Amino acid sequence: MPLKPLIAGNWKMNGDTASLGEIEAISEVVSASPPRADILICPPATLIFQAAQTAAGRIAIGGQNCSAEPCGAFTGDVSAEMLRDAGATAVIVGHSERRRFHGETDSMVAAKTLAAWRAGLLAIVCVGETEGERLAGDHQTVCKTQLRGSVPDRAKAGNTAIAYEPVWAIGTGKTPALSDIASMHRHIRECLVERFGPEGNSIRILYGGSVKPENAREILFTPEVGGALVGGASLKAADFCAIFSAAPQGT
Ligand code: PGA
Repeated sequence: MPLKPLIAGNWKMNGDTASLGEIEAISEVVSASPPRADILICPPATLIFQAAQTAAGRIAIGGQNCSAEPCGAFTGDVSAEMLRDAGATAVIVGHSERRRFHGETDSMVAAKTLAAWRAGLLAIVCVGETEGERLAGDHQTVCKTQLRGSVPDRAKAGNTAIAYEPVWAIGTGKTPALSDIASMHRHIRECLVERFGPEGNSIRILYGGSVKPENAREILFTPEVGGALVGGASLKAADFCAIFSAAPQGT
């Protein structure tokens, strides 16, 4: 049975305890809505425990990053096991902001994905090209290389989702043409099937980059789009709820 779409919010470095009200508001709407999508919010690490308590199972809570190590002398890092202990069930790995500002390479992202699996978390592995790479016509090759290097063997639909996030669309208000989203998602699907066989058909491929209430429906109904990773528009419950209400029922 195909998995429901996954609509995930990435709060990035935004939010404090006052923002828990948004978690409560989203949870209320989700629990009163038909179960059309899996809903996840990834707040900053400081809020994961309280967010999970507030959500009380009505929506899932995730991390935005994790260490590849389970514990030890890694000052400032948080392990996948710690996220799980705080109430997370998923973690974003390899977001372009981590790749860019923290020098994360594909092999580091693969190690973090393994850590997520070790802790029983769903890993949302991000890939995506820069504007220059798209203009040069290299976008498919770039994403294929990132996928090959960032997603370890044995990925399954139950432990992994891919987020295609063109770097130039993140936080810019720009989105690719729907035909470009469709062709990249088809390309990613082919890469997943080539690598993982039939299981590759079930792994969800989310689109991320300037998803908002106004464009959510057309994006979520694009072939091979299995959900969305939403940044700015996930910070306010009203916007985020409008986005997941646009999701197709259980495709
Ligand atoms: P955005 O961010 O929706 O604000 O463009 C998406 C992301 O970075 O995951």
